[in-house]
Amino acid sequence: MIDENQYKIEIGNEELEYFLQSVFDKYGYDFRSYSQAHIKRRITNRISMSHLDSLEALQSKILASTSFASLFIKDLSINVTEMYRDPNFYAAIREKVIPRLKTYSFLKTWHAGCATGQEVYSMAILLTEENLYDRSLIYATDFNQQVLDTAKAGIYPEQKTKQYTRNHQLSGGNTSLSDYYIAKYDKIIMDKSLKKNIVWAHHNLVTDGVFAEVQLILCRNVLIYFNQNLQNKVHELFYESLAKGGYLCLGARESLRFSSVADRYQVVDSKNKIYIKKY
Ligand SMILES: C[S@@+](CC[C@H](N)C(=O)[O-])C[C@H]1O[C@@H](n2cnc3c(N)ncnc32)[C@H](O)[C@@H]1O
Repeated sequence: MIDENQYKIEIGNEELEYFLQSVFDKYGYDFRSYSQAHIKRRITNRISMSHLDSLEALQSKILASTSFASLFIKDLSINVTEMYRDPNFYAAIREKVIPRLKTYSFLKTWHAGCATGQEVYSMAILLTEENLYDRSLIYATDFNQQVLDTAKAGIYPEQKTKQYTRNHQLSGGNTSLSDYYIAKYDKIIMDKSLKKNIVWAHHNLVTDGVFAEVQLILCRNVLIYFNQNLQNKVHELFYESLAKGGYLCLGARESLRFSSVADRYQVVDSKNKIYIKKY
């Protein structure tokens, strides 16, 4: 049994590039522009968990086995999420964004990197509370099919409901969260009414392009794993996808400040990372 703490593998940048290129060539998943620190951490973790002794051994295993490759690709996608994550962000959306969205006859929202869907259901509930859901279409995308399947099913552990309920209240929710799910054994199942205007789709921010013009984009806690070049590329994609006067929302530790598109947006709420497209 390998002791993770004693077992340290140093990975050079060049061998990392070669390794990521081979994964891209074989499977079409492009992690070459992800943050190196993040990738190296996940690789050493996988090497250790799979009782391997080098990056070379990991590469051989990945290239020889599709199921092992899927496991590795899953390692690289961090799917941590929750309902009304950062309640203040949702409170700011209610206060600073919704009034303007209410003036639109139809609203399209894109959740890029939606993971298991809690962020999407949070927004669907918020739009319902604000009487906007019936004139909304929500695109929810991720490049990990497994999390998308969970998102689509909308079934979550019942033990999370206490925290989700607290978050919902802190976000300014004016209904009861329990109105939107049914509890069955140790699970909750999100209500069908929330799903009717949601389109779930596989979309890779690195390799896929614009698919719709939208008025609101949430891409929270995704870009943090990308290097600056890739962040810029994805920001160009968001800029192209947003209607003029549309809103871009990032995660708490993300910012538009150093991006190539920063001057094309105005800050709506700097703490909650909400921006509006100026032109
Ligand atoms: C930490 S989760 C964020 C979930 C949610 N947005 C939130 O803030 O709670 C990051 C998600 O980004 C997705 N992701 C990572 N790289 C991606 C890419 N290139 N294209 C699409 N989704 C990606 C991962 O699969 C994961 O589900």
